[in-house]
Amino acid sequence: MNVAFYEKIWMWAAGVLIVAFLATIAVGVAGSALQPPSHVETIDPTKIWNDPRFKQRGVSVDEHGATVIAVAMMYAFEPAELRVPAGRPVTFRLTSADVTHGFQIVGTNGNTMIVPGYVSQFTTVFREPGEYLIVCNEYCGVGHHLMSAKLIVEAGEVRP
Ligand code: CUA
Repeated sequence: MNVAFYEKIWMWAAGVLIVAFLATIAVGVAGSALQPPSHVETIDPTKIWNDPRFKQRGVSVDEHGATVIAVAMMYAFEPAELRVPAGRPVTFRLTSADVTHGFQIVGTNGNTMIVPGYVSQFTTVFREPGEYLIVCNEYCGVGHHLMSAKLIVEAGEVRP
């Protein structure tokens, strides 16, 4: 088969681009410790308020970092205000009481989908103390644009 010279160049260019795109995924996973939200831990969305994993909502702090337990529902996050320490790993454990919601901490890499029936979990570190806006970024109904919460990242020691 005779392939024209310019066609060969473009075939190689397309091949190189595919390899480059796959490499960015590999580097992101291996190098930056990025992972997709777990979505493997299931939960009955009709029983979350009594589920031992979500009964006690809020922030717990220990020597390693903090864990945030929160529930998304039409059209609020519970709790609506979270205080976490700066510079230490913060693990978010989230679930939905009704429909699919989003959880985006604006200006950070904290961002996940919250799907009813599953526990979404991710861990991140906030280097900059301050107030961050948390928004729902999945359309969930007429009150979607009102669905927000506040994350306060505190410098220094945060008592449990
Ligand atoms: Cu919840 Cu949009």
